[in-house]
Formats: sequence, structure tokens, C-alpha cells
Amino acid sequence: MRIVSGIQPTGNLHLGNYLGAIRNWVRMQDEHPAGSCLYFLADLHAISMPHVPAELSANTREMVAALVACGIDPARSVLFNQTQVPEHAQMQWLLNGTARMGWLNRMTQWKDKAGKNREGQSVALFTYPVLQAADVLLYQATHVPVGEDQKQHLELARDIAQKFNNDFCTEDAPLFTLPDPMIPPEAARIMSLRDGSAKMSKSDPSDMSRINLTDDADTLMNKVKKAKTDPEPLPSDKDGLAGRPEAANLVGIYAAMAGSSVEQVLAEFGGQGFGRFKPALGDLLVAKLAPINDRFVALRQDRAALDAILRAGANRARELAAPTLAAAYDALGLVR
Ligand code: TRP
Repeated sequence: MRIVSGIQPTGNLHLGNYLGAIRNWVRMQDEHPAGSCLYFLADLHAISMPHVPAELSANTREMVAALVACGIDPARSVLFNQTQVPEHAQMQWLLNGTARMGWLNRMTQWKDKAGKNREGQSVALFTYPVLQAADVLLYQATHVPVGEDQKQHLELARDIAQKFNNDFCTEDAPLFTLPDPMIPPEAARIMSLRDGSAKMSKSDPSDMSRINLTDDADTLMNKVKKAKTDPEPLPSDKDGLAGRPEAANLVGIYAAMAGSSVEQVLAEFGGQGFGRFKPALGDLLVAKLAPINDRFVALRQDRAALDAILRAGANRARELAAPTLAAAYDALGLVR
């Protein structure tokens, strides 16, 4: 198994990122032999949208610190920044010859992000999925942990791989492995603490709406205390959460953090009011997040350590990428 996944360095990681993607990455790392997982910061993808250069570099380093703090172990996983492995950009160019305009035109993320103004978008936003295909095909990835929203991009990567294999390889020696998306079944959808119908997001203007991995214990307790709820006590079964998005969100967060299920949480807290439940949730969050927070705060300021982690990861990634990139040049008849 070769597991490859990337995350854009947006900065300011919150509980939604942690429970959605990162915790899953850590689980995969822990369940597979050392060296099976490659995780990277997709900083090249970040320039497909308007961005502030100084923020991108700061966010990239900050995100490495956060990933390590959350449990990604650079000794067991290959952790690197996309820019430091130029093979990604090179492979993308080669795959641009295989990807079709029509395929990219059908990508829902492109349509959503471009909206009515396609003409005004960067070319990078349009070819973003080809770079993503390069990211995984370069390493012969067999499995790609992603959220539901990235499934279509993975299907495109398979289509590109298949067409390249058909067009440029013999049937008994295909170059690319077709990667499978791995979408965690219980990926908890973490919602805003202020509005149970909006996703927890780093772009919400109210910091009270989200739990940041940088929040200290007092801040965490306060945010949970102030979280929006309704006046009813918690129900004793899941059906009772219907139409109560804020209650459902807090119970979901509790279950995800405790490693239990919504049913189990309701068996314990059903019939109790938020006056009892919120302090319990706050204590749980503090217990689980404080160690992450401590590691994050320490590592974030250790620029030398961060750069060393990235350098080692990039060296290893480049070794792994080299044979496939060379074979792709050869298959295309490019003289290297
Ligand atoms: N597009 C992905 C996202 O926004 C990030 C990403 C870039 C990625 N390259 C990847 C994910 C390769 C998996 C594999 O979430």
C-alpha cells in the first residue's frame, strides 16, 4: 500500500480540519508499516487563487508544526512541502499533454470556484486537478485519503493514468497505478459553534465560531460555554437530535473527540441540560487538545527544526518520485 495525500497550507488549523482530515492521516500512519504514507503541503495549489506571498510561507511552516503536533511522525511518514519536490511540477507538465479540456471543464470545484467569471480565473485554477493527479501518480499511490469533495479529482487522476498507460505504454507494462480514494466513513462534519448549519471554517469572521488548535484551555472552555444551543435537555437517542443542529454538532464533537459514538454519548448524557453537558465537553476538549497545543506552540517557533523536517522529507520524496518521472519522460519520447 502506498498512501499519498496533500493539504493546502491555509494556516490556522481548527477542530474541523483535525477531525476531518488530519486525525485520519495519523490513523493511517499508525496502521501501516513505516514509509507507507506520504503527506505534503500543497503549496503549489495555493497559488491558483489570489494569495499573499508572506502569508503562504508562514502558513506552510505553521501547518508543518500543526501536523507534527497532531501526531504525524516524520520518522514514519514522509512529510514534505510540494515546492521542494520539483518533480510534482514537472510531472504536471507531462500530464497536461494527456488531460483533456473537456474533463477539466466538468470539474465541480472549478465550476464552483470560478462561478460566472471563468475568463478571469488563473490557468492554474483550471489545471489544478492535473497537478493533483501528478501528486499521486508520481508515487504510484494506491490509496488517497481525501474528503468527499475531492472524489471527482481522484477520478480524474485515474482517467489521466489510464489514458497515459493506453497511449504511451504497452499493455503488459503500464506506467501508472490507478489510485483509489479513501473517504473516511465516519468523517464527522464539524459545524460552527454559532450556527449549526454552517461548516466550522477559518474564514468565519467570528473566532467564537471555531475551536482552533492554538486555543488555550481558558479559551476552549469559554468558547464551549458560549456555543449556541437550544433550551431543551439532550435527547436519549439519535432521532431526538433531528431539527437541533447545534445540539447535534456538540454531541458529534464529543463523540469524535472521545472516540465513541453519538448513541453512546446520548446514553450517558440524555435527559441532561447543556449546563451539565458543556463543562464535560469543555473538559474533554482541553484534555485532548492541550498536548497538541503544547507541541504546536513549541515547534512553531523552532524554524530550524521545521526546515530540517521539510528538507529530510523532500529528499526522501524525490528519491521515491525519480523513477516514475524518468519513465514518464521516456514513454513520451522526451530526451533527458
Ligand atoms: N485538493 C486537495 C484539497 O483541497 C489537496 C490536495 C492537493 C490533495 N494534492 C492532493 C489531496 C493530492 C490528495 C492528494 O483538499
